[in-house]
Amino acid sequence: MGPPGGGKGTQAGLLKQQWQVPHISTGELLRAAVRDGTPLGLKAKATMDAGELVSDDLMLGLIEERLSQPDAQTGFILDGYPRNLSQAESLDQVLARIQQPVSGALLVEVDSEKIVDRLAKRAQQEGRSDDNEATVRKRLAIYAEQTAPVANYYAEKGQLVQVLGEGEIAEVTQRILAAVNEAGWG
Ligand code: AP5
Ligand code: MG
Repeated sequence: MGPPGGGKGTQAGLLKQQWQVPHISTGELLRAAVRDGTPLGLKAKATMDAGELVSDDLMLGLIEERLSQPDAQTGFILDGYPRNLSQAESLDQVLARIQQPVSGALLVEVDSEKIVDRLAKRAQQEGRSDDNEATVRKRLAIYAEQTAPVANYYAEKGQLVQVLGEGEIAEVTQRILAAVNEAGWG
């Protein structure tokens, strides 16, 4: 977990090599659906461009489908899901059903103004359609309202690990590995 631009994708991409499990980013799955022009992509595009959350029903279908793939049978890193309390509860139900309980939840924290800078840079490099400043601020607001409470959901279960996501990318990875080892998962 972490704010938009917090480094979830960057860090998960590095940790999947270490842990030999797939990196499952719901944002990437949605962007692929938009690129492919699937019914899901067509439904999700306007919501994503507005920086708002795609409906819980669509997301649950997407995540259940992805977790049923062969490569996810011995673990996975989820990036960008769950993103509100209802998704966190649905995820626990799905994971109980497939007997793959949560090892832990990792929260990567980054100051909002640093995020605006990072995503302005990425907008120039990659042109992601939700990286303009107005949409980034909307994504930050939705994160604060709807996603930040998910951290408490995991903290109450004793499953939350928090690290600072600022500084060099490799430094953040080292912080994550140290925190996760200390917590006894990963
Ligand atoms: P999603 O794709 O998940 O976007 P996001 O949460 O806004 O996060 P980003 O992917 O932009 O950032 P990141 O944390 O992965 O950081 P990154 O490593 O890229 O979701 C997009 C949209 O899809 C949502 O708005 C919503 O509409 C929909 N959606 C997705 N999941 C959903 C769900 N569960 N429910 C409902 N809707 C959903 O890094 C960012 C940039 O910073 C990069 O350029 C990177 O190179 C750079 N960077 C990384 N680390 C550092 C560092 N340490 N120092 C400097 N720069 C760094
Ligand atoms: Mg990402």
